[in-house]
Amino acid sequence: MKQIKYPLNDIEIPRQWYNIMPDLPKGLLPPLHPATGQPAGPDDLAPLFPMALIEQEVSQDRWIDIPEEVLDILVKWRPSPLIRATSLEKALGTPAKIYFKYEGVSPAGSHKPNTSIPQAYFNMKEGVKRIATETGAGQWGSALSLACNYFGIEAKVYMVKISYEQKPYRKILMETWGGSVTPSPSNETEAGRKILAENPDSNGSLGIAISEAVEDAAGREDTKYALGSVLNHVLLHQTIIGLETKKQFALANDKPDVVIGCCGGGSNFFGIAAPYVLDKINGENVDILGCEPAACPTMTRGHFHYDFGDSIGMTPLLPMHTLGHTFMPPSIHAGGLRYHGMAPLVSEILREGLMRAEAFDQVDCFKAALLFARCEGIVPAPESSHAIRGAINEALKAKEEGKEKSILFLLSGHGHFDMSAYDAYLSNNLVEYDLPEAEIERAWNAIKDLPEAAEF
Ligand SMILES: Cc1ncc(COP(=O)(O)O)c(C=O)c1O
Repeated sequence: MKQIKYPLNDIEIPRQWYNIMPDLPKGLLPPLHPATGQPAGPDDLAPLFPMALIEQEVSQDRWIDIPEEVLDILVKWRPSPLIRATSLEKALGTPAKIYFKYEGVSPAGSHKPNTSIPQAYFNMKEGVKRIATETGAGQWGSALSLACNYFGIEAKVYMVKISYEQKPYRKILMETWGGSVTPSPSNETEAGRKILAENPDSNGSLGIAISEAVEDAAGREDTKYALGSVLNHVLLHQTIIGLETKKQFALANDKPDVVIGCCGGGSNFFGIAAPYVLDKINGENVDILGCEPAACPTMTRGHFHYDFGDSIGMTPLLPMHTLGHTFMPPSIHAGGLRYHGMAPLVSEILREGLMRAEAFDQVDCFKAALLFARCEGIVPAPESSHAIRGAINEALKAKEEGKEKSILFLLSGHGHFDMSAYDAYLSNNLVEYDLPEAEIERAWNAIKDLPEAAEF
């Protein structure tokens, strides 16, 4: 028997988050106010977020302390394990070492509580009584319900309708932690009513659900809004993943040659990648790969441009790789990857050539997830299966080249609530989807008149 896990003690949990802002070679373009097109300042964001999170959003401090009260909760499941996938290595016959960092050990089953806990904490500190949010696959809504429960805050979750129907147990999980859940588009907001008037059968999308939650929060004194991905402070909170991973690799006496994560809004990927991006900025040779669905190929077929974060055009304009906020992703099972844009921080490192991106079809991803489940036992979330596809491809490449690489991927969550998706795959009802160029063109044309994200 050889060692395959590299555990850290509770007291080795990182005490600070890593903020990449001061290390970005060219910095980051500012968000723009949706009405004026001028840079949006802290005051513009104040109706939606507590000031502590707004400060993190724009901070240039490289290290930001994690409050003790937040660590007291995170330590219930962190540090999360780093595991060698030795059975998968064997099945692939690869000389590569495959490691995965597993975030499915959190109570909500994914990386999302890494940011929901601090977000709820900073809201509580500023007296917020209620938080409105959206959820795609139900992972973020569960994580926020969990966090709000810890800090005595009411959670209101707008859940993308297709996921609400595909994942009834996620709704019950949210309710178990005290959250209340509404399928989106709903009749409860102007934004939802507008979409339903245009298309009563709308399956919803993350962009629409964001519009509803933002409208809800903006319209009530007692309510703020929380986002589970995309924004700088969310990605900052996720860096705890990569910081732990670096310590664990030191225990393994190894270093990853390739770092891989799946990309929806970019938060889990950035969480594991950020400390390695810094190594790369400092001249180290590490290959950083973001994996996205071919059905929603933000980085591989989108444009770098200012665009709204939601579908209606209520949020500030963000500089990001985007398919356009009117892009309606097809109903692939990885609900958490159905988002038209990519986090500005991930978009920036992609533009800088500090990472690369690949898109995979969902059938290929489920094939990879099944092989992983049969080798390692853990049933992955459909979102995470994109990272597994990427890691398997790299391991097979290493086999062809006869190279003994170390491949690291992030398993962002388990798939215990995704059995309907596994059922569809196992009964051959999951189809490959070829996204037509005409749809990409249509959605891109709809945002061409928004401000260009000019080169620095
Ligand atoms: C398990 C899992 N992985 C990945 C994602 C994608 O989000 P992000 O790119 O922000 O990590 C989600 C989103 O819901 C998720 O639930």
